[in-house]
Amino acid sequence: MSSCAEPVMIRPMMAVDLNRVLDLAGGLKDAPQWSRAAYEGIVDPVDGESGSWRRIALVACDAESGLVAGFAVASLVPPEGELETVGVASEFQRRGIGRQLVNEIGKKFRLQGVTKVLLEVRDSNLAAKGLYCSLGFREMSRRSGYYIDPIEDAVVMRLDF
Ligand SMILES: CC(C)(COP(=O)(O)OP(=O)(O)OC[C@H]1O[C@@H](n2cnc3c(N)ncnc32)[C@H](O)[C@@H]1OP(=O)(O)O)[C@@H](O)C(=O)NCCC(=O)NCCS
Repeated sequence: MSSCAEPVMIRPMMAVDLNRVLDLAGGLKDAPQWSRAAYEGIVDPVDGESGSWRRIALVACDAESGLVAGFAVASLVPPEGELETVGVASEFQRRGIGRQLVNEIGKKFRLQGVTKVLLEVRDSNLAAKGLYCSLGFREMSRRSGYYIDPIEDAVVMRLDF
């Protein structure tokens, strides 16, 4: 995390956050546009019985206003985890919030025994690739024509703990 990172509070995503998360994601060209139902299936992701998590959904709230500035969603089947989506509202970008969100996912992954993290990203998404590279992810392979509208390769990136 950079020393000038924006002060944010990172906490689990809750149902009350969904209007803001959907709005925020809708304003981001490169964020996956998930339906409300898809998010509803992942809020409150703790399995209280077994204590095992299969999904992690976090939001980063601006320390002053409390507004949700960013979010991240991941899935895991230890020892493997996948970072599914991360998004930061454009007015909050380049303040270290994306990095803090992914670092927090990483901490939770480690607690659950994840040792290998994978993700897919559009080849042209330089901001996301820059974020992932800055955190130690490296290109592992490519999926040709994986994305549509427009058609583009996915870069598969990997980080080992
Ligand atoms: C990718 C994204 C989450 C980054 O969030 P962010 O809060 O702005 O990122 P940070 O401020 O934590 O940046 C961390 C590092 O990532 C890299 N980075 C971030 N934005 C970048 C950009 N526009 N260009 C190049 N590198 C960038 C830099 O290395 C940066 O470190 P630095 O600021 O010290 O140089 C944000 O740009 C975003 O929401 N994009 C749209 C949605 C998306 O593409 N999500 C990923 C696919 S699911």
